[in-house]
Amino acid sequence: MGEASMERGTPIYRIRGGRPLQGEVEVSGAKNAALPIMASTILARRPVTLKRVPEVRDVQTLSTVLEEVGMRVERADCDLRIETVDPDRCRADRTWVRHMRASFCVLGPLLARRGQAVVALPGGCKIGDRPVDIHLRGFEAMGARLALEDGYVSARAERLRGATIDLAGPHGTTVTGTANLMAAATLADGRTTLVNAACEPEIVDLARFLISLGAKIDGAGRSVITIDGVERLGGEVTHRVIPDRIEAATFLIAATATRGAICVRGADPSHLSAVIDLLQSTGAEIEVDQSSIRIDATRPIRAVDVVARPYPGVPTDMQAPIMAMLATAAGESIVRDEVFPDRFAHVPELVKMGANIEDIGDRVCIRGVQFLNGAQVTAPDLRAGAALVIAALAAQGDTVVRKVDRIDRGYRQFAKRLRQLGVQIDREVRKSQ
Ligand code: EPZ
Repeated sequence: MGEASMERGTPIYRIRGGRPLQGEVEVSGAKNAALPIMASTILARRPVTLKRVPEVRDVQTLSTVLEEVGMRVERADCDLRIETVDPDRCRADRTWVRHMRASFCVLGPLLARRGQAVVALPGGCKIGDRPVDIHLRGFEAMGARLALEDGYVSARAERLRGATIDLAGPHGTTVTGTANLMAAATLADGRTTLVNAACEPEIVDLARFLISLGAKIDGAGRSVITIDGVERLGGEVTHRVIPDRIEAATFLIAATATRGAICVRGADPSHLSAVIDLLQSTGAEIEVDQSSIRIDATRPIRAVDVVARPYPGVPTDMQAPIMAMLATAAGESIVRDEVFPDRFAHVPELVKMGANIEDIGDRVCIRGVQFLNGAQVTAPDLRAGAALVIAALAAQGDTVVRKVDRIDRGYRQFAKRLRQLGVQIDREVRKSQ
């Protein structure tokens, strides 16, 4: 866990702004691909090795949840070896599940492989209303008997049966819902068709992993996925997790916000088209090859309008960092989030730093200022925390960002890697805040 491992107390970042990012950075494995893949190892009959699993806190949390449901998880650097050791343990307690919504992805695999599961209703970043009704509707359609009691979902099924499930909700599809149901359907009796499925690269990666275990899945990456259930899934496979497009985008946005020029290596540019288009329309120059993205944003940038949407749109996870960047772009930008329409907890913190941002109902209007100022701010959640770091790097003067343990959920050694890009950022631990 690098930066966080030895700390006692709440960590802060102390950042001196005003230096452009320069140099090269290597992208980690994708947290949001690794998590559902880790959960779906419950389906395998033999041990599984996962490579390029990022050393971030959410991965550590899910490892604990998996151990709780009878899996052994061994880590060596970025490799995880996971196997079932006690299939009778099918209960995931709220102590861990409440920390992280992706833990709910153990429900489908437990139900499909072991016929029962008791899983706490999830928590996670406070980024808006985050129900799991679509997951539950899907399991019911597959014949599971569900009961909700005291904050837990308990589910049973002799064998799940294939069904047609529409994953559309009030804000579009659901990413972890698609993962949970797709994984469960691999062992169901008959064909499952997921309609309005999420098309995110993380879903494609999960499908690739499941197929390597022997699953029959067609259409991952498109809005209709069909899964023909098999009797059993194998194991002894090794799967390499895709690069983290959200982490790559964070560094590109940070470079643009500080008017820097960097190269992001080990990325998959094809997963980042919407972000690359957006950065180009601010005036940044970008060159890509198969696995690296070079950005030159050393000239002034202009305002752009942004709508966060499901893939292949601009990711909602990048909405806050983009807003931090646009705070100093010339002109007026309008930002809207169609996935989590209220995901704006970063706005008051950015305003403390001198940003001119106005909340106009379901969207915000950003009027670019010449510079932001250092301030004391608090990371409201993972991506909003990254946004405040970006704002601080671009600001004049010193900023303290509090509660950066929230950033540890999804960024590996964030401060250290930013320092390697030439900026001044220190991590300190405060006994109490
Ligand atoms: C995933 O969350 C990601 N997490 C999130 O990233 C990301 O912000 C989100 O997808 C959208 O891209 C992981 O992959 C682990 P959703 P998820 O279900 O799957 C509504 C990060 O920072 N909805 O796709 O939990 C929901 O309220 C995290 O790394 C229902 O109505 O999000 C939202 O408006 C934060 N009913 C929309 O769908 C449901 O049953 C999309 O949510 C499920 C969701």
